[in-house]
Amino acid sequence: MQIWVKIDAFFRKMRHKPRTCAAGAGHHCLTKLERMMKVTEHLALNFDEVILGRRSIRGFEPSPVPKSVIRDVLELAIRAPSSYNTQPWNFYVVTGEPLDRIRAGNTERNLAGVPPSREPRSHGEYAGIHRQRQIEVGKQLLGAMKISRDDAEGRRDWVLRGFRQFDAPVSIVVTYDRAIHGGDIGPFDCGGVTNALVNAAWSRGLGCVINSQGIMQSPVVREHAKIPDDQVIMICVAMGYPDDSFPANAVISNRKSVDEAAVFVGFDE
Ligand SMILES: Cc1cc2nc3c(=O)[nH]c(=O)nc-3n(C[C@H](O)[C@H](O)[C@H](O)COP(=O)(O)O)c2cc1C
Repeated sequence: MQIWVKIDAFFRKMRHKPRTCAAGAGHHCLTKLERMMKVTEHLALNFDEVILGRRSIRGFEPSPVPKSVIRDVLELAIRAPSSYNTQPWNFYVVTGEPLDRIRAGNTERNLAGVPPSREPRSHGEYAGIHRQRQIEVGKQLLGAMKISRDDAEGRRDWVLRGFRQFDAPVSIVVTYDRAIHGGDIGPFDCGGVTNALVNAAWSRGLGCVINSQGIMQSPVVREHAKIPDDQVIMICVAMGYPDDSFPANAVISNRKSVDEAAVFVGFDE
């Protein structure tokens, strides 16, 4: 352990040294070895550190994510519980050209005004306290990105980034078996496994944002991710190595307190 701590300290220093690489001057490009160290650093995280440290990542390093690392993350995620252990989920892990086609098709159709065709039912626009919380996190993100209220161009660009799944090198489309479509348990189980997925990814040095903007046009996703009709498209997760210089990645969203969320019944006090 001792030696890892020393090596880690060395690479921490290295990571903050500006270098030039193919991505342009001043870009922080991690070498393979540094990347491994980053993983090792995250491996040392305990459960609380993963849960408290994880946040949505919306700016990514361009470097690809090795298939073996994604497999490792999925191995952890699929330990999630599910109703009667039915495990109705499936994952379509997309990168490269097919992902670029999804980004392009999703963006084009949204800009052309094609109505969203997400498959899970929608509750409609948020109102009341839910709307307030939606606005609050939006303000945090746009504030970090220095996009002001009247900056129409900046706001449009932010939305377009969402349509492109924030240019992440990988997208994992989470689906469930159509045989159980119509009930609420399939989506519930997908939520469980998706939460496990983003935490497992964080523990391996990867960042994610669960992303409904990226799959607003389901037929495009179905076509390019080769998702058969017996699967319902639930959500996607944009994934990659976090770009530590991307301002929105530093945003820590608020939570209502346990006192607001929990009702304790039958306790002495
Ligand atoms: C079902 C679901 C859909 C989401 N869709 C988007 C999205 O389309 N765009 C986006 O930027 N973030 C999206 N998010 C991320 C949430 O905004 C984020 O999880 C929330 O603000 C809490 O922030 P945190 O993940 O940093 O803790 C989504 C999250 C969930 C669970």
